[in-house]
Amino acid sequence: MERPRKIRLPRAGSTPLTRQHKRLLAYAFGFIALFSLWYVFAGKPIDRLDFPFEQHEAWMKDRSGVGTFVAKDSYDWRKAPFYNKVDSYTKLPVGRPNTLPPVQAEFPVETKAQRALRQQRRTAVRNEFERSWAAYKDRAWTHDELMPTTGQASDPFGGWGATLVDSLDALWMMGFKDDFYEAVGAVAKIDFGNSSIPGISVFETTIRYLGGLLSAYDLSHEKVLLEKSVQIGEMLYRAFDTPNNTPADRLYLEAVKLATSTGSPVEYSICLANFGSLTMEFTRLAQLTQEPKYYDAVARVTDILDRGQNTTRIPGLFPIWVNAREQSIAKDPTFTLGAMADSTYEYFPKMHALLGGREPVYQKLYQDSAPMIDKHLLYRPMLPDDQPGSDILFSGDIHISDASDVHVDAEMQHLTCFIGGFFALAGRLFQRSHDVDLGRKLTAGCIYAYKALPTGIMPEIFSSIACASRTSCPWNQTLYEAEVLRKAYGKDHADYEAAVTEQRLPPGFIQMRDKRYLLRPEAIESVFVLYRVTADRKYLDDAWDMFSAIRKYSRTRYANGQVFDVTDDEEPVVSPEDKMESFWLAETLKYFYLIFSPSDMVSLDEWVLNTEAHPFRRPVLRETVRGVGA
Ligand SMILES: *[C@@H]1O[C@H](CO)[C@@H](O)[C@H](O)[C@H]1NC(C)=O
Ligand SMILES: *[C@@H]1O[C@H](CO)[C@@H](O)[C@H](O)[C@H]1NC(C)=O
Ligand SMILES: *[C@@H]1O[C@H](CO)[C@@H](O)[C@H](O)[C@H]1NC(C)=O
Repeated sequence: MERPRKIRLPRAGSTPLTRQHKRLLAYAFGFIALFSLWYVFAGKPIDRLDFPFEQHEAWMKDRSGVGTFVAKDSYDWRKAPFYNKVDSYTKLPVGRPNTLPPVQAEFPVETKAQRALRQQRRTAVRNEFERSWAAYKDRAWTHDELMPTTGQASDPFGGWGATLVDSLDALWMMGFKDDFYEAVGAVAKIDFGNSSIPGISVFETTIRYLGGLLSAYDLSHEKVLLEKSVQIGEMLYRAFDTPNNTPADRLYLEAVKLATSTGSPVEYSICLANFGSLTMEFTRLAQLTQEPKYYDAVARVTDILDRGQNTTRIPGLFPIWVNAREQSIAKDPTFTLGAMADSTYEYFPKMHALLGGREPVYQKLYQDSAPMIDKHLLYRPMLPDDQPGSDILFSGDIHISDASDVHVDAEMQHLTCFIGGFFALAGRLFQRSHDVDLGRKLTAGCIYAYKALPTGIMPEIFSSIACASRTSCPWNQTLYEAEVLRKAYGKDHADYEAAVTEQRLPPGFIQMRDKRYLLRPEAIESVFVLYRVTADRKYLDDAWDMFSAIRKYSRTRYANGQVFDVTDDEEPVVSPEDKMESFWLAETLKYFYLIFSPSDMVSLDEWVLNTEAHPFRRPVLRETVRGVGA
């Protein structure tokens, strides 16, 4: 009940307000209005979770009221056969880690207005995450994916709850404490003894499940998460049970469980990403368990890459296809930093960080490949003269048909957008300022490509024209028109203008082979890394523009779905595809959240993120003393 308030009414016959009174009243109102504005934008904590990382950590780890979790599995993968035994294990580098150069910039103290804006944006990201997560919980709980339009569930990743496991560390970072512990409880009950599909992808299972579990363990130290990591790690270790111990691409669970199993056949042809980027997850598992075989398994693969690096069609670079049977990377003539190759390159500097610089091979792999990426794959796109062309780089593909004519196919993929962050991180770790600069320009390229589209979202794959020179590249209309028509072959266009209009080509684009946006993280990933490396606040505005555009065009009834056509900005917005991969919550929204967080939230000087955005703790002396990791 509200207490009746005494209101003093003006006495009958009282004199009207004097001019002085009126002025006083006006001042009072003005003051109240200003105060409310200040209160809304600066005074009131817009984001009650915006405190330093250590405080956040202490709060999340205070598990009073949370019970203990017991891992349940119907089959013990530690007891599964391993037929092609390994004679002796490569040792995990231990001892004192090197002090590596700092990755992050010094961040100046924010003004109140800057902080308020950052907190508002961070809250908007958290709300978007919460909406998708709530729908997953309601409608697809413990399944791999929520279908965001129909609200159904689907199980393309083994049926163990890919979204559940992939989201654990994001829940932890965003401070969804109850949801985090509820999710840990559900993860404890996942049965890795069984699968919804006979043959699982070794690569996807490693980066999403093993990576997700290890990272959630590294953040929370919940014991059951390490137990589940060992369980699925032991399953995935069976992928190395091949005649020469190179990894199988797919693992057929029921077949390799049989006592009579002779392991899996060695792959004749496996793509570089699936071959070479199991290193971080297996290394972190080895560090946390002190079990050398996990490290040994991936060290052997690295050894093959090391020995083969100068034998390829472009010495220094690794082609897309690897012949694992012959342990050869010499023959394939196709090169890219995009699909099927990307994360193997990405893991060279990241392995250097994860091992505390105690194994030199990863620096060598990076230093012999980076200049060749720069020389052969990076290109400045030809753009109209009023566009900022000289500050932009893209990364394309090479298909060698004639060894004397190695030229780049100027096709850029959204997947390749990780490359800006890749060069910036490696440039800092190895103190190569040229590489940091490449990272900046490559990130600028992806930001440009987002802004160039009417929806504000970059397409999955598009082509432009590679300039012969990075310093000077005048617009050539004749060349542009010819290239647009060449790429539009098979379609009957009266002239190039019709081709441009019909395909809604932004300036300088000659084709968009795939106009979709699949909720992918690579562009915001690089924007986030560049922000941490430079402390340049312009990246916060770029990130916000990307987030606003993606939110607008990917929203579905329940969550967010893949956008069909990023050239279509007509109202009403076309309903997205009924598909939401686990990386939407695990990566895309996490990177958006991290960029608007204080810079010590998952500092890149203390953590290194796997290719699914799962942070692993880097070995620093503090940690060795405590005996966690090594
Ligand atoms: C696999 O699933 C079936 C049926 O759900 C179950 O009975 C069994 O215990 C599970 N585990 C193994 C190892 O087969
Ligand atoms: C590979 O080739 C590069 C460039 O030619 C050279 O710098 C490097 O030393 C070579 N590495 C090995 C291991 O032969
Ligand atoms: C523009 O491109 C056309 C077609 O490739 C070429 O013939 C011409 O020389 C170019 N013009 C200039 C000024 O470079």
